[in-house]
Amino acid sequence: MRKILVIVGSGIKNGNTDKLADAYIKGAEAAGHEITKVFLGDKEIAGCRGCGACQNGKHICAIDDVMQEIYPLLEKCDTVVLASPLYFWSISARTKAFIDRLYAISTDDKYPHKNSVLLMTAGDDQFWTFEQPASYYRFVTKAIDWTDIGMYFAGGCNGEAGKRHIDEKHLEGAYLLGSTM
Ligand SMILES: Cc1cc2nc3c(=O)[nH]c(=O)nc-3n(C[C@H](O)[C@H](O)[C@H](O)COP(=O)(O)O)c2cc1C
Repeated sequence: MRKILVIVGSGIKNGNTDKLADAYIKGAEAAGHEITKVFLGDKEIAGCRGCGACQNGKHICAIDDVMQEIYPLLEKCDTVVLASPLYFWSISARTKAFIDRLYAISTDDKYPHKNSVLLMTAGDDQFWTFEQPASYYRFVTKAIDWTDIGMYFAGGCNGEAGKRHIDEKHLEGAYLLGSTM
């Protein structure tokens, strides 16, 4: 059984990315995994200040925001799932802030090992739509020595207010990924 922490870096509760994450979670739960989900959209999350306060051996970040709830969850989980909408061909700022703030759990640039998954949604649906964040995700996971165990990219989502939509095939795809973890 995996202990999975799902970080949703979208601003819209029950929006496309949140739905994709929930489909993944349903699959992972069906497979017997334990899930904790954190939706960042209604919470404050600041970028890392680079103050170095966390690097004195105690791993305590000086910024008082939602990451203070997330750090203990990070300690307990073995798998981290990043769920983000595509914003200007990259991950959302919330998702990036979460990644930058991982610095606090490092010691001499070494990070506790986790498995990781990337889930994304976008309006566009070209073969290259997710190229930048996929490449970035590969670099980051390699740099911090995390093991990528899956990615799911849902293109062609409508993000317009009142017309938000994600295709059922994507929800099925994310469910399948979760259920085969
Ligand atoms: C600020 C902003 C930037 C976006 N940038 C892109 C983009 O670069 N490429 C793209 O295909 N879709 C882009 N989109 C569309 C979203 O990625 C898409 O609608 C997504 O499914 C929204 O997810 P949500 O419902 O979780 O907010 C953007 C949307 C917003 C609000």
